[in-house]
Amino acid sequence: MLLDVIMPGMDGFEVCRYLKEDAATRFIPVVLLTSLNEKAMRLQGIGVGADDFISKPYDTTEILLRTRNLLMVKRHHDFIKEHSRVLEQQVRLRTEELEKAFAELKSTQQQMLQQEKMATIGQLTAGIAHEINNPIGFIASNVATLDKYCDKLLKFMEAQQKTPLSKFTDPEASEKLQELRKQMKIDHIVKDISEMNRETMEGVERIKSIVMDLKCFSRIDEAEQKLADINQCLESTLNIAHNELKYKTRTTRDYGELPQLRCYPQQLNQVFMNLLVNAAQAIDTKGEVTVRTWLEDDVINVSVSDTGSGIPEEVRAHIFEPFFTTKESGKGTGLGLSISKEIIKNHGGEIRVSSEPGKGSCFTVSLPLERANPDQ
Ligand SMILES: Nc1ncnc2c1ncn2[C@@H]1O[C@H](COP(=O)(O)OP(=O)(O)OP(=O)(O)O)[C@@H](O)[C@H]1O
Ligand SMILES: [Mg+2]
Repeated sequence: MLLDVIMPGMDGFEVCRYLKEDAATRFIPVVLLTSLNEKAMRLQGIGVGADDFISKPYDTTEILLRTRNLLMVKRHHDFIKEHSRVLEQQVRLRTEELEKAFAELKSTQQQMLQQEKMATIGQLTAGIAHEINNPIGFIASNVATLDKYCDKLLKFMEAQQKTPLSKFTDPEASEKLQELRKQMKIDHIVKDISEMNRETMEGVERIKSIVMDLKCFSRIDEAEQKLADINQCLESTLNIAHNELKYKTRTTRDYGELPQLRCYPQQLNQVFMNLLVNAAQAIDTKGEVTVRTWLEDDVINVSVSDTGSGIPEEVRAHIFEPFFTTKESGKGTGLGLSISKEIIKNHGGEIRVSSEPGKGSCFTVSLPLERANPDQ
């Protein structure tokens, strides 16, 4: 735009200022036509954003040259602007794609975690069924015995009722009743009933707690983190794994005093379950599994050690890789440790292993109370 400074109505400075204030016209090059000796005017021109001056009287070649240069600058500017617009759009598109892919990945990972958890329960099902069946067995047998006892008690009560009240003072009738009482083992029955009731209640409690642990373990993880007592988590996981452990191993617990940890407790249970099942599977016939917890420098540590086969050096390098397993097909998918590692990483912690072939292994999980990215 070639602008005279002196114009009717609105002068050149004002037009220039309008153009430069509006984002749509800001980049139109403006050339003010002034007299050579009007320095104050030129300063004012610079103030309102003019791109160049041409002095009167004009030299047309100068006008042509300056205009061409300015138009070239403008074209470059437009080119760069268009380019960055396209780039921005591409970046936005790519970001959207990446965000979508990330969300999908997260959901797949969540599904994988859940599948692996259910697979573990699948592996343990026979054991868990046995754990539940055992108390159900003695509860059923107790109930049958109680039924017989009820019969006997009713019969004795009938005999008592048939004895007229006046005869109670009769030593012969009284002796007869005493005889019957002995014969029917009424005293023993009364004592046994309370014992059996206690045992039955215990069995019911055991089933209740197994079912609760199982429900807790198989539940899809809550989206929110919770404060949890890690010793308690271990205890309920040990309950579910009990049958897997009890025949071959002696389990020792050595719990230290721990503060509550903000975490996803189901996921950590899954880690503990993997370590316990691995420990049990590493033991051939008889061995020991020790679960230890302790607090050190605001880090909760959990170790699961076994006196099993141990892990040779060349195997140890691969145990945290997905699908790496040395177990026969059907027994292991090789996902346990890789998923555990991922879960622990998400909790800002780490997992370490030490092992001596032939002697046993020890897996240690460290979970910091405070972590750099607590929302993960
Ligand atoms: N306590 C341990 N003692 C000896 N070897 C172990 C122990 N824990 C893990 N390993 C080795 O690490 C491998 C990988 O373990 P991981 O838990 O990831 O998979 P898995 O137990 O084979 O299968 P999954 O856990 O999916 O059922 C095992 O196959 C085994 O060779
Ligand atoms: Mg495993």
